Amino acid sequence: MFESLQASPADAILGLITEHRDDPRAEKIDLGVGVFRNADGETPILDVVKEAEQRLVDSQDSKAYISTAGNASFNAAIQSLAFADSVPDDRLMTLQTPGGSGSLRVAAGLILRATEKATIWVSEPTWNNHVPLLGGAGMTLKPYPYYDVVNHVIRFEAMLDSLHKVPKGDLVLFHACCHNPSGLDPSEEQWCEITDIVVERELVPFIDMAYQGFAVDLDTDAFAVRHMASAVPELIVSTSASKNFGLYRERTGALSFLVTDMSSRDILISQAGSYVRTLYSMPPDHGAAVVSSILLDAELRARWIVELYAMRDRLRDMRSLLHDALKLKAPGHDFSHLVRATGMFCFLGISKEQVERLKKDFGVYMVDSSRINVAGITPGNIEYLADSIAAVL
Ligand SMILES: Cc1ncc(COP(=O)(O)O)c(C=O)c1O
Repeated sequence: MFESLQASPADAILGLITEHRDDPRAEKIDLGVGVFRNADGETPILDVVKEAEQRLVDSQDSKAYISTAGNASFNAAIQSLAFADSVPDDRLMTLQTPGGSGSLRVAAGLILRATEKATIWVSEPTWNNHVPLLGGAGMTLKPYPYYDVVNHVIRFEAMLDSLHKVPKGDLVLFHACCHNPSGLDPSEEQWCEITDIVVERELVPFIDMAYQGFAVDLDTDAFAVRHMASAVPELIVSTSASKNFGLYRERTGALSFLVTDMSSRDILISQAGSYVRTLYSMPPDHGAAVVSSILLDAELRARWIVELYAMRDRLRDMRSLLHDALKLKAPGHDFSHLVRATGMFCFLGISKEQVERLKKDFGVYMVDSSRINVAGITPGNIEYLADSIAAVL
């Protein structure tokens, strides 16, 4: 049976990881893969996660199944982290999912149960995996303008024009903060303008919040979620604990729905349960148990916020470091967008050929679009990195 299969095309990021790993040059730099790294180039387990895991090992007395919706206290804590008190709890429901990716996929399946021909409008560009996760489930994806590759700003007017023409009832995918790949987010005023159009056109917003706490702070980063929630009848939010808790491999995420009333919420809960049963039955527990014990314990929560903001600050510092180094080494080139962006990603803004030369001649790895993960920058490699970029400009 399997001999009929063709090899699937290589994943660009996974391919880059292998190429970087096999590169013998000591000075090589990886700006491709999407994980946080500290100044030593490592992705350590947060101290507070270690502590919560230890407490869990000491106190957990069963590994019995939980439920299709996962850990109830995790769901409540994540829901409150995202929505705060922007809407009454009885209009919200949250289920734990295998990572943010699992959340997007479950959302797509449930949307398609509700409406057979669902169209979702996504920013151009958007996170590459949005396409297989949502499109692969059967949704139709259409682009709205977002990033100006020449001037490195949001194409806000073009975006609004485009949203004005989206047919009533269609979904629109937004990134709550740290837009991946551009790193540029609308301001609060702009989110208000976007929300007005969403309300006027009766669109259904779907907000992907994979980086809460990585841009400004936990509350500011949730502005779009909370503002839209207070204005629209229905909203979908996908969250991930991969980055802000560093729980990548534990596959910890959540999917929240804002609905109009309690009876639609109960129907959605039953539909979500039966749909999840057809996919993976129940989400993995460990990461969610860790997150809920951190969020529900005042001391652990405070320690988590300190560690989270230290990650945010390191990303900010590395952006400034690269910006300042390029100002010196590549005068005449404007890299100010590096410091206007937030989170892990932004575009360097160089050509595919220059990306290739960086890889071949200098061992500096990034995806073809020149999206970089600034977490790959360290005080130790900044000089070499800036020299290499200046050399290919
Ligand atoms: C925009 C966006 N959404 C969702 C995710 C999902 O992450 P995960 O499935 O690892 O939780 C990511 C991860 O890179 C992301 O960048």
